[in-house]
Amino acid sequence: MDAIRIRGGRPLRGTIQISGAKNAALPILCATLLSDGASRIRNIPQLRDIVTTAQLLRVLGRQVSIDMPEITVAEGGDVKPEAPYDLVKQMRASVLVLGPLVARYGRARVSLPGGCAIGTRPIDQHLKGLEAMGCSIRLEQGYVIAEGPNGGGRLRGAEICFDIQTVTGTENLMMAAALAKGRTTLINCAREPEIEELGRVLNKMGASIDGAGTDVIHIQGPERGELAPFDHAIIPDRIEAGTYMVAAAAVEGSEVRISGGELADLETLVVKLRATGVEVEALDRDVVVRRTRPLKPVDITTATHPGFPTDMQAQFMVLMSTAGGKSVITETIFENRFMHVPELQRMGASIAIRGNTAVLQGVQTLFGASVMATDLRASASLVIAGLVATGETEVRRVYHIDRGYEAIEQKLAIVGADITRIKGAEA
Ligand code: EPU
Repeated sequence: MDAIRIRGGRPLRGTIQISGAKNAALPILCATLLSDGASRIRNIPQLRDIVTTAQLLRVLGRQVSIDMPEITVAEGGDVKPEAPYDLVKQMRASVLVLGPLVARYGRARVSLPGGCAIGTRPIDQHLKGLEAMGCSIRLEQGYVIAEGPNGGGRLRGAEICFDIQTVTGTENLMMAAALAKGRTTLINCAREPEIEELGRVLNKMGASIDGAGTDVIHIQGPERGELAPFDHAIIPDRIEAGTYMVAAAAVEGSEVRISGGELADLETLVVKLRATGVEVEALDRDVVVRRTRPLKPVDITTATHPGFPTDMQAQFMVLMSTAGGKSVITETIFENRFMHVPELQRMGASIAIRGNTAVLQGVQTLFGASVMATDLRASASLVIAGLVATGETEVRRVYHIDRGYEAIEQKLAIVGADITRIKGAEA
């Protein structure tokens, strides 16, 4: 297994180019199931989750050609609407094929994803929504089996109110409703920019969707049960941009231009960064982050968009670990997303956990150590900790990072970090 070795303490200077958004690319790749013909998706990030999704689409009977940063998905041979456990367990977002498959083929058999490092992550909201659209759902041997009305017929539009806001739940039901007969109203939807992006793509395919990116979405199903192929370039990854903004903020003396970071999608992070004393400035379509003085402590509470993103919580915690005073970080989205805390403590951070709250007392500096993480964003936070720390840090189990950050060590090396990937390091 690869590891990343960092010798910390060097300010970052230069420009980092942001890749396409993982969490936009995944549902959009799944949306190709709603049509035949060849759909072309551009600005795809080179990530392990993308490869897994391509494999999944092939298993489902699609022809997938990859020529990064582009992927073309076309009609293949026989469609087998079945997502096997081996692929779903690698990536929970595989559940995003459920809505498109049952809407298009009247039937789907998709493995239940099971728990993961950050929480139990049920999919009850996805299933309740599909049931409201006339699906019959049963669970059998770890699989969800969904069938359209009257033994595989077309889904019916419905009024659906989510009990909690869910990103992939909203996306799954949008894709299902895009082919359903009649009108669907989704209420209490998640409002992430990636949902808005999926809405744009579905509309390009000929769907009629209004309100994606707000908490109420209206979808008018088409006359016939099929949509057209599309050509689309994916928006930049706001979480990747946010991660590099925090990396720049973490080391005093840094000035990094983040190319392709959309400030409008990162407002809460920007407000919080500015409150720490870091300068954040929009320049043309880029963002410049400048750290010139010691950090002030700031509290954060994660929330659905436009609140502070849970996917930035671990990285922000590293920042607060060397701030001048006490800060409080509360995680409200996932029940187990403090897995990075024990590792940061090993690097000298002072953090006390009380339920879903972490109380930090800023320290002078962190110290390099061998660390490892169990999820993507926690791994990224440990890389940032390595950039701050004196001495050498080795972040193990880098495959988590490779799921969601394209060439992280190369992008950080370009701005002056002393960082290398060690191939086949000890696990
Ligand atoms: N939830 C339920 N029932 C459901 C669905 C969700 O109880 O049917 C709960 C979850 O357990 C969680 C909360 O609702 O406590 C929110 O989960 P959500 O469904 O919004 O998360 P997700 O759709 O599985 C996406 C991103 C995550 C990101 C979350 C929150 C994708 C592919 N994944 O996950 O991204 O953390 O939204 O913003 O879009 C990452 O990229 O590292 C990542 C984990």
